Amino acid sequence: MSKFDTPIVILNFKTYIESSGANGLNLAKALEIVADETGINMVAGPQTVDIYKIKEETRIPIVAQHIDNVNPGGHTGSNLLECLKESGVDGSLINHSEKRMTLADIDENIKKLNNNDLTSIVCTNNVNTSEAVANFKPDFIAVEPPELIGSGISVSQAEPEVVEGTVKRVKSVNKNIKVLCGAGISTGDDMKAALDLGAEGVLLASGIILSKDPKQALLDLVSKI
Ligand code: G3P
Repeated sequence: MSKFDTPIVILNFKTYIESSGANGLNLAKALEIVADETGINMVAGPQTVDIYKIKEETRIPIVAQHIDNVNPGGHTGSNLLECLKESGVDGSLINHSEKRMTLADIDENIKKLNNNDLTSIVCTNNVNTSEAVANFKPDFIAVEPPELIGSGISVSQAEPEVVEGTVKRVKSVNKNIKVLCGAGISTGDDMKAALDLGAEGVLLASGIILSKDPKQALLDLVSKI
C-alpha cells in the first residue's frame, strides 16, 4: 500500500501545545499504532522543528504544514523545500486557511513538490477555489470552510453541499486529483459522511489533538468506514 492511498486521515498538528515537541512525537506514535491496527493510512503534519525527530522515531508518513516558495539562499525564517525533504517529509500542505498563498506560489509549490516526488495537498475554502486550483494538478485538494475550522461543527454534516460540489467540480477538471474535506471533523459519523459524499479522506486537527485520548479518538474516527 502506498503512503497516500485512500481512504486517508491527515492530522494537521498546527501549533497546539498538545501536538508540539514531546507531545507531537506521542501523537505521531498514536497515528502509527492506529494505522497499523486498522490498515488505514494516517499522515502526520507536525510543526517544522518536530519533523526530523518524528521521522527518526516513527514510520508514519509526514507532511509539512507549509513550504515557502523560495530558492536556497537569503530567506531568513522561511521553510525551504530542499531542507524539509532532507528532514524526511513525504509531501506538504499548501495554502492552508491559516497560511494563505498567492495563486502563483501555489502553482510553483505544486510543481516543485512534484519534481521532488513529494505529495501536494492544496487547501481551499469553497467549491469555486477548489475547481480553480484543480487546474494546477495537485495530488490532493482539501476543502475546508474557514468558519467551521476548530468549531466542532463538521463540514461533512453541516455543509455537505461544499464537499459534494468540490468532488464533482474537481473531478470534472481532473479525475486523478483526490479530494479531502476538513473543518470540525472529529467522529466516526463525520468521517463516514465525508466518504459518503465522495471525499477520499479527511484533514483534521482539534477534534483529535484536544481530545483526552487521541489514540481512541483516531480509532473512533475510522470506526465506521
Ligand atoms: O487542517 C485541518 C484544519 O484546518 C481543520 O481543523 O480543528 O477543525 O479539525 P479542525
